[in-house]
Amino acid sequence: MKILVTGGTGYIGSHTCVELIASGHEVVIVDNLYNSSADVINKIEKISGVKPAFYQTDILDKENLEKVFQENKFDAVIHFAGYKAVGESVAIPLTYYENNIAGSINLYQLMKKYQVRNLVFSSSATVYGDDFEVPFKEEYGLGTTTNPYGTTKKMNEMIITDMNKADENNSAVILRYFNPIGAHESGLIGEVPNGIPNNLVPYIAQVVAGQRDFLRVWGNDYDTVDGTGVRDYIHVVDLAKAHVKAIEYAASHKGTEVINVGTGKGYSVMQVLKAYEKACGKQIPYKVMDRRPGDIAVCYADTTKAEKLLGFKAQYDIDEMCADSYRFTCNLAKQ
Ligand code: NAD
Ligand code: WQD
Repeated sequence: MKILVTGGTGYIGSHTCVELIASGHEVVIVDNLYNSSADVINKIEKISGVKPAFYQTDILDKENLEKVFQENKFDAVIHFAGYKAVGESVAIPLTYYENNIAGSINLYQLMKKYQVRNLVFSSSATVYGDDFEVPFKEEYGLGTTTNPYGTTKKMNEMIITDMNKADENNSAVILRYFNPIGAHESGLIGEVPNGIPNNLVPYIAQVVAGQRDFLRVWGNDYDTVDGTGVRDYIHVVDLAKAHVKAIEYAASHKGTEVINVGTGKGYSVMQVLKAYEKACGKQIPYKVMDRRPGDIAVCYADTTKAEKLLGFKAQYDIDEMCADSYRFTCNLAKQ
């Protein structure tokens, strides 16, 4: 298939492009490089042997986005482009709604105009909010989101569902990612945080690289194995492979499916820290702080639907996730 990948030079998008190419698909990337660099295109080529077509285009710029549709006959779209920082979304909500909602609507309107019927959308476990019992199941539906970023994901899910109800020839798979970490085993692509990382593993990586003094562990008084927060970390390459299965599923079905992508296992902050210490061979300094507002104690996926519908099961374990993150961090430090 010829697939438009919005946000394809970003963290998850770049790994997905590698897996799409490996599965014989043709990839066209649209990204405005707000949170990524054009050099990622060369890295994708180095890993996969194929240089994807690239348009430096903002999805908010509908006129230029339309040119991409005029120049290419797409079979499908994987939509990653968006802003993703939870804290920032609280401070500048309109910017988040504009980019993540108005940008998405531009894209969906062009898909309709050019009859591109198959879509995979990047949603998040954050749409479950704090309303449900773990493991989170897709059938729970949408919970109460606690920040504008999460609300943009929830709204996109609703928009896509309504859009496909109105046109029964459309097909979409909405993937709810849990906590993607790690990097490609080549060490060439991975997550490059913009500023001070909010997420656990990028923060640990910067402590290991000497850019931060210590990890701040946000609370150790939760009702968990060691009191620290538990999450379902998934290797970004596993997540990328899930996209290949999801877009192939979308192309051979109609309607809308919401599917969790996680491992189904939870690890605490301290367990991740220990796994990272094993990967880098040194102790990582940390200090226990108060709980971070808005955090929940435990979050992990029910992965039954991904297995049943997509035949997807995550392969990498937490040690491999940390080892690959560490390799990428070492390469970044050399640049
Ligand atoms: P990322 O920031 O690395 O990638 C997003 C890409 O989109 C970037 O390259 C950025 O430059 C581009 N972009 C942003 N706004 C754009 C616009 N208006 N026009 C064109 N390009 C634009 O983020 P990621 O971690 O790869 O996340 C990809 C998607 O997955 C996002 O939608 C994110 O919300 C979602 N998601 C991420 C996580 C996570 O933990 N990383 C978890 C759940 C869902
Ligand atoms: C994981 C655990 C923290 C940083 C967020 C978004 C979610 C999704 C993934 C996009 C928690 C603890 C963290 C630190 C810490 N993104 N922690 N010290 O909060 O599960 O999810 O990213 O969709 O929407 O909310 O991920 O990596 O921030 O936190 O102790 O410096 O690590 O308290 O228990 P989270 P995270």
